[in-house]
Amino acid sequence: MAVTILGIESSCDDTSAAVLRDEVLLSNVMASQEVHRRYGGVIPELASRAHQQNILPVVSEALKQAGVTLSDIDAVAFTRGPGLLGSLLVGTSFTKGLSVAADIPIIEVNHLQGHILSHFVQVPGRDNRCPEFPFLCLLVSGGHTQIVRVDDPLHFEILGHTIDDAVGEAFDKCAKLMGLGYPGGPVIDRLAKEGDPKRFRFAKPHIPDLDYSFSGIKTSLLYFLRDRLAEDPDFMEKNKADLCASFQQDLIDILLKKLVLAAKQTGIRQVAIAGGVSANSGLRNRIEEEGRRRGWTTFLPELRFTTDNAAMIAITGYYKFRAGQFAPIDIAPLSRAAEYGDR
Ligand code: KG4
Ligand code: ZN
Repeated sequence: MAVTILGIESSCDDTSAAVLRDEVLLSNVMASQEVHRRYGGVIPELASRAHQQNILPVVSEALKQAGVTLSDIDAVAFTRGPGLLGSLLVGTSFTKGLSVAADIPIIEVNHLQGHILSHFVQVPGRDNRCPEFPFLCLLVSGGHTQIVRVDDPLHFEILGHTIDDAVGEAFDKCAKLMGLGYPGGPVIDRLAKEGDPKRFRFAKPHIPDLDYSFSGIKTSLLYFLRDRLAEDPDFMEKNKADLCASFQQDLIDILLKKLVLAAKQTGIRQVAIAGGVSANSGLRNRIEEEGRRRGWTTFLPELRFTTDNAAMIAITGYYKFRAGQFAPIDIAPLSRAAEYGDR
């Protein structure tokens, strides 16, 4: 029998709700919070308040667009973590309220698992090619950078991870240094298209195995700009596009080096990317190019599934529903990945 899942995502600054019937997407509604832009980053207190305002209209709209009512929903899947605690509490508490009021079981979802499984959401009328198991997923977001081996929808192994900043943070901090606004990733992506990626070089990390580090390259950019600006106060303005293109290229090189190593070590040739930074056009092109050269089959998520969304939470909930993995009503959010046993 077909299963209908309502997914709810509230881990950071996007409130989202989606409805899935089996793997097929019926609706995916999103309210992004503009309020953080003027502060140059997400303010947790403001994020949880905005979730409180948005969550009911977003969920109602998702049900309406899907053409279903609460009585059609077999389970509500919600993001338990990782994320901002105040934001997670809004989605978790709302889910529990629905569960008690409408007598619907609930399913907890790990946000990172959701990003990876976004590849399995089937969109009517689209090419819904998805990875075969086992596959490698480069998970690149504002909070995490990992290479994950995925053996089936519910079994993952983290092969490598960042020991300091996430790559999304490196994009955002670089943009902040250059006064480009928040979030920085999309701005750098846009400016990089007009710049020369070979013009400047920044210090690359030397980290063993499949792990990453992005704090050194950020510091390298900081000192580079400080020295050049001392010589020419207009240096940044004159070289903005080349700086973005070069910095982005270096980040992509760092990401690809370890991904190529992981593919060699595991012999796996199904390679996917996921998370906010997987929207980056330079990274998308490069993964496809490497894939052609190395005989990988590559999977890039649709752009709307790269950043935080509830469709990815609903699809993970769907697989957990099929496996009978429900959550108790006294469940509490987990803000850190480590609390899940992820590194
Ligand atoms: O997955 P996500 O929406 O939230 C987290 O779970 O962290 O990722 C947000 C991150 C931010 O750092 C943002 O700058 C980055 O994704 N991002 C991009 C692009 N679009 C979003 N980074 C590089 N290029 C982009 N086009
Ligand atoms: Zn995310």
